[in-house]
Amino acid sequence: MTVLETIHQHRSIRKYKPDPIPEELIREILEAGIRTSSSANMNTYSIIVTRDRAEREKLHIPHREQSMVLDAPVLLTFCADFNRMRKWLKLNNAPDGFDCFRSFMVGAIDAILVSQTVALAAESKGLGICYLGSTLSNCDQIGEVLELPPSVVPVVGYSLGYPDENPDLRDRLPYEGLVHEETYQDYTDDQLKKIYHTRETAGWERYMSDPDLRRQIEDSGVENLAQVSICKVSFDALQVKKAFER
Ligand SMILES: Cc1cc2nc3c(=O)[nH]c(=O)nc-3n(C[C@H](O)[C@H](O)[C@H](O)COP(=O)(O)O)c2cc1C
Repeated sequence: MTVLETIHQHRSIRKYKPDPIPEELIREILEAGIRTSSSANMNTYSIIVTRDRAEREKLHIPHREQSMVLDAPVLLTFCADFNRMRKWLKLNNAPDGFDCFRSFMVGAIDAILVSQTVALAAESKGLGICYLGSTLSNCDQIGEVLELPPSVVPVVGYSLGYPDENPDLRDRLPYEGLVHEETYQDYTDDQLKKIYHTRETAGWERYMSDPDLRRQIEDSGVENLAQVSICKVSFDALQVKKAFER
């Protein structure tokens, strides 16, 4: 597949075959990731490769017991990492101005960009991935399991393995709703209704077709997809700050 074909074929994979991933293939896709652009070429990230079943079992609960953590043979965790850089500065009697939240952001951007390059490299080789939002929302507990020192924070992670499902492509908001020419064009109510129309109908139908989700939605009194989304995106930035400064 060409790069563009790989990109357009992307689907998150939540069911995996138990087959192990050859060591050389893991190395190949990680080396591709390391070629990603990096702020001032500082490379302020680390990648933790978790293969061991016992280690994945320890990560299962902080990852909200998502089945992919146990079913996929590999879990990759991409961390913002100023530990290595700061130690190197100290070794060289250089000033260290990196003990701050902005440094976390720089490291997080580096880590996230690398993670997506690795994801594409993996998909181009027939592997599947599923990002785990729990990496950031439970970064403190995950950091403990991975024995991360101060200044190292998990920001994104995903399961990695050979797909055992072939899900449909998921919709995206339309191009016109996402791309602005020259300057930001704020949205009218009518434009918003148009942009979110497919999401509101197809997304709602998808949620309601799952008996467990349907029951949860009906019990909670939620009336539409927007209300479901708000329940899902609750995130404490202070938790990340605490993990970075730990
Ligand atoms: C940062 C991030 C966190 C995510 N967290 C989860 C997660 O915890 N569990 C999950 O099943 N999918 C997770 N996803 C996958 C998204 O739900 C998925 O990408 C989105 O629904 C679009 O579907 P697609 O990737 O199949 O196109 C996450 C994706 C991203 C980018």
